[in-house]
Amino acid sequence: MDQTQQNALKKAAGIEAAKIVENGMTVGLGTGSTVRYLVDELGRRTQEEGLKFTGVTTSRRTAEQAKGYGITIVDIDDVDRIDVTIDGADEVDSNFNGIKGGGAALLWEKIVATNSDKIVWIVDESKVVDTIGAFPLPVEVIPFGVGHVIKKFETRGYKPTLRLDADGKPVLTDENDYVVDLHLGRIDHPEDLGTDLINTVGVVEHGLFLHMVDTVIVGDPNGPRVMT
Ligand code: 5RP
Repeated sequence: MDQTQQNALKKAAGIEAAKIVENGMTVGLGTGSTVRYLVDELGRRTQEEGLKFTGVTTSRRTAEQAKGYGITIVDIDDVDRIDVTIDGADEVDSNFNGIKGGGAALLWEKIVATNSDKIVWIVDESKVVDTIGAFPLPVEVIPFGVGHVIKKFETRGYKPTLRLDADGKPVLTDENDYVVDLHLGRIDHPEDLGTDLINTVGVVEHGLFLHMVDTVIVGDPNGPRVMT
């Protein structure tokens, strides 16, 4: 699948998911290129159909895009509960175990997700896998002592790399943390791995989202497909 085809599938999934949003809802808005299509469609509905909902975003990038359409964005602490969060993912298996954080927004994404009544992911078909782990697992780490955390991950065989930007500087999250990507190949025991990572001092959060999602909307060449 080339980039143009993949983008078309992402767009179809985003447009399909936008139908979930109704007047008066509080909606978690994820991060990434697939979510951009979702927000474009929600922006269109806001401007052309008078849709009125409140958004809680998982990144400053998404907040900026949504506000550009006149969508109301509030802080997560200004709402009691989020009705539904719609987000992208890097990989998802048939048990709805997933990897997120390719866009370095995993911490806010997990906080928004865990305060949502319902979670919907939008992906193109290439993201649906038998076993997660081919996509490098992002881990958000505090800058202080990051070298020691990386050494510990090396010792455990996790093959870590510090994520760098085009200028060779560490990528910073919206919380000014670093991202360490683990090149695991496959993850057979995600619960055990998640426990090990979160118990490593210096780690803020990891990109394993296990059994959290309710629905996955898959952009498929035959039309959007819904997995529940
Ligand atoms: C950002 C994420 C994204 O949802 C994930 O990387 C998918 O991105 P895209 O829609 O661009 O493929 O987790 O942290």
